[in-house]
Amino acid sequence: MTRQKTGAQALNALTLNKAVFPVAGLGTRFLPATKAQPKEMLPIVDKPLIQYAVEEAYQAGIRHMIFVTGRSKRAIEDHFDTAYELENELEMAGKAALLSLIREVQPADMLCSYIRQPRALGLGHAVLCAEKLVGQEPFAVLLADDLMIGQTSGPGILSQMADVFYETQQSVLAVQEVPSEQVHRYGIVSGELLRPGKTQVKRIVEKPRAEQTDSRLAVAGRYILTPGIFDMIKSAGKGALGEIQLTDGIAELLKHEGVIAYNYLGKRFDCGSKLGFLQATVELALKHPEVALEFQAYLQALKTPV
Ligand code: G1P
Repeated sequence: MTRQKTGAQALNALTLNKAVFPVAGLGTRFLPATKAQPKEMLPIVDKPLIQYAVEEAYQAGIRHMIFVTGRSKRAIEDHFDTAYELENELEMAGKAALLSLIREVQPADMLCSYIRQPRALGLGHAVLCAEKLVGQEPFAVLLADDLMIGQTSGPGILSQMADVFYETQQSVLAVQEVPSEQVHRYGIVSGELLRPGKTQVKRIVEKPRAEQTDSRLAVAGRYILTPGIFDMIKSAGKGALGEIQLTDGIAELLKHEGVIAYNYLGKRFDCGSKLGFLQATVELALKHPEVALEFQAYLQALKTPV
């Protein structure tokens, strides 16, 4: 499903055309699997994590994908490039379905750019690396570790956020409620509830301790940001964990512009953790047309061992 821009949106100077994917992280939580391959290339059933995020951005009408990469991330570039030899082989073998499957990875109207983050100085720093490629436009940021799935036959999470952005022309953060024992893992926002699911952000803190905040609204790995964020990240400097945090840049941005926290409709899997990765694998396998029935039967048998 492809999101169509309305005439008004296409003419609007604040149309969302670009998405930034920070993919330079080392993936230490998945060693040894990530020793020689990017964590973003780990598959959930049959598709690498990064492809789910790129498809979500494409569905939201975005056509320019900007990857902030690092050493040993070449597989990501190769994945979104043409694979001539493979295509030839499949063509000669008459495997049309597989051929279109791999061609769909990079639709003809999608542009991919790559820029290196020379040192792992934090998420804010990664976003800053994309400044020249983004320019003076609003843009999305997608953290591929967070696999986000919209409700059955509903729009993807970034498409939902794009609607909020087009309506408000303000930066939009995807949020979800988390239990208090988990707030220390996230950027936590608080503010004024505008209507169900939309909060005007007043405060955002990176990884607070539970007792430092009453809010349980955690930022998931999807952002739509105005270009003002770049100067704000620069002025925020280093924050939590000694890193240049995107959250601190957003806290600065709040002093000048409105920011909306949006409770997305759908589900998030934290695929940066082993448990989240396994949960995503099981749930998506149960929806996969090729394996769903057999996999369900297998799980059933596991539950009732002979
Ligand atoms: C990053 C952000 C954090 C956000 C989280 C979502 O943290 O810094 O604000 O809540 O992603 O997954 P990380 O998971 O990289 O530590």
